[in-house]
Amino acid sequence: MAEDRKSTNITWHEAEITRADRERLNGHKSCVIWFTGLSGSGKSTLAHAVENALFEAGCRTYVLDGDNIRHGLNRNLGFSPEDREENIRRIGEVANLFAQAGVIALTAFISPYRADRDKARALAGDAFFEIYVKCDLDICEQRDPKGLYKKARAGEIKEFTGISAPYDPPLHPELTVDTGVETLEESTQNVLAVLRTGGIIP
Ligand SMILES: Nc1ncnc2c1ncn2[C@@H]1O[C@H](COP(=O)(O)OP(=O)(O)OP(=O)(O)O)[C@@H](O)[C@H]1O
Ligand SMILES: [Mg+2]
Repeated sequence: MAEDRKSTNITWHEAEITRADRERLNGHKSCVIWFTGLSGSGKSTLAHAVENALFEAGCRTYVLDGDNIRHGLNRNLGFSPEDREENIRRIGEVANLFAQAGVIALTAFISPYRADRDKARALAGDAFFEIYVKCDLDICEQRDPKGLYKKARAGEIKEFTGISAPYDPPLHPELTVDTGVETLEESTQNVLAVLRTGGIIP
């Protein structure tokens, strides 16, 4: 039993339609593709490029994107270490539900703490692909697609990953893409190749 569980008298009800049934219907396996990296490294850009390619190939997909989820499910969370942990815990659970539903779930969150990503991995089991979206901080800062680095440097954003908050790089990701060096197309193809090797897509 999870040690933080508050409810008692709850019993798991087994579904009759299994994940394997859903995968058979969809014609591909389901999984979690977990993109992690600094702000501006290209997680959202790459996740959507991979999703576009998968969708074109007839796969069922969904991108869970950090800022979007913070508009709804996680709108009561901020950027303190505790809230970041809870943010990622919920995303790990939701991504796993999508995978149970037969979908290829792609998550685009900075997810700075290795321990939190490892918990998401443990939930998803074999069907977890951690993609380290690597990019030098100075390139991320030059891109600054949301103007956040500028604000962080001006002291307007506290606890900003890479500047005033830590980022733990993955130790054993299924794939590292360096978006400061590779093109978006190259990174996309590299992710698809990992999915093929992993038996997710033909
Ligand atoms: N090879 C590349 N791969 C991905 N993005 C690239 C690449 N080259 C340049 N970019 C640009 O870098 C920016 C990456 O922004 P994006 O919003 O995807 O980052 P993010 O990692 O999702 O950041 P955040 O954590 O703030 O959401 C985009 O403007 C994108 O066009
Ligand atoms: Mg993003």
